[in-house]
Amino acid sequence: MGRVVASAPGKCILFGEHAVVYGQPAVAVAIEQRMIVEISTEDEISEWKLDGKEFDGSKHPHVQALRDRMWPKSVGATPLSVKIHGDIPAASGLGSSAALSVAACAALRAARGRWIRKNGDFSVPEDWAEGYHSSIEDTNSYADSENIRDSARRSGQNGVGHLHIFGQDSIDVEECSIVGHSIEAVAQGGRASPMDATTCAYGGIILLSDKLEPGVDWTGTRNLSTPNGDVSWEIHSVSAKSPDDLFLVIGHTGDYSSTAQQVKYVAELLEKDPLRMKEIEAIGHVARRGVDALLKGDYTAVGHAMKENQVLLSLLGVSSEKLDRLVEAANPSSLGAKLTGAGGGGCMIALTRNPKETSEAIELAGGRTWISKFNNKGLTLDAISDLPIWFPPGN
Ligand code: MEV
Repeated sequence: MGRVVASAPGKCILFGEHAVVYGQPAVAVAIEQRMIVEISTEDEISEWKLDGKEFDGSKHPHVQALRDRMWPKSVGATPLSVKIHGDIPAASGLGSSAALSVAACAALRAARGRWIRKNGDFSVPEDWAEGYHSSIEDTNSYADSENIRDSARRSGQNGVGHLHIFGQDSIDVEECSIVGHSIEAVAQGGRASPMDATTCAYGGIILLSDKLEPGVDWTGTRNLSTPNGDVSWEIHSVSAKSPDDLFLVIGHTGDYSSTAQQVKYVAELLEKDPLRMKEIEAIGHVARRGVDALLKGDYTAVGHAMKENQVLLSLLGVSSEKLDRLVEAANPSSLGAKLTGAGGGGCMIALTRNPKETSEAIELAGGRTWISKFNNKGLTLDAISDLPIWFPPGN
């Protein structure tokens, strides 16, 4: 039986959510909690299964979008059984859907493999005969399911006489991050930053900016045509020496909220009153101060920026009473606390050197907590057997 298991971490945002959708800088950190995706072929299944039940694409739009892109029935891809588990709560601002998309993208790629140019190098996207990567110009990964170009399943391009690779060699972190972002963009009505998908794919600490930042590793540019115009992000990986005694405490309000709705709420607010774009820019200024502090290793200033960011997010109207209560409870024992993700419910985070004290304070205020360190790994391929599961048409 062909089988692949891949996993990716969730994320929390130190500064800049919502404003990052409009191109402002933001920083996110991969957390210890992960989503695990297992795909396999089971004898005699004629249709896709998800967690043992018949797969319903309308209930699982992320999996449906991936299936359309990576596993098209129209060119003979066989039905799969998919199992999803992990310890990231859904609809809570911790990037569960991005982690799912990134891990599932890697699993499907490992299972189908990739055609590359004869004598090509699998790590050089220009040698690929199929796939999504920011350095391949003719890839339209941001189209919705019906309008995907054939780039993902093209054959015969980039040279004649292909070589087929599969498993770990066929996985490309940048591809998973791009596909993850494109699926978030579709799910969020065209307005989504690459923050979640990039952090879940690469792990560690990710900085998005409107310009190239010195002192950090640049990993690429992402462009997206949104209903508000074209937005472009420069993506960087930050290797800040985060001290061993620093922790993130995540506090869940117990309420769930839809990122798509929260993003829509902000878009409508800005449409009604374009002057409120000043608030988005103010979040950008605070995020920039936070980035400078992070790069200097000044965590007291990082905490201050988080606090200021929370005030601005509240003004924008994306916090909630419960989030405010948990943030207030965390403040005395931490360097800074704020909501994370889209807000309106879901989670807050506190940056702290006293994880036990901060966690108890949040729980006393009614939150459920998790503690996470920094420097968590990104996407991993965790198990494979009998690959490729489907051998896509090549020449
Ligand atoms: C969601 O985790 C973060 C938002 O900024 C949306 C996005 O960046 O696409 C609210």
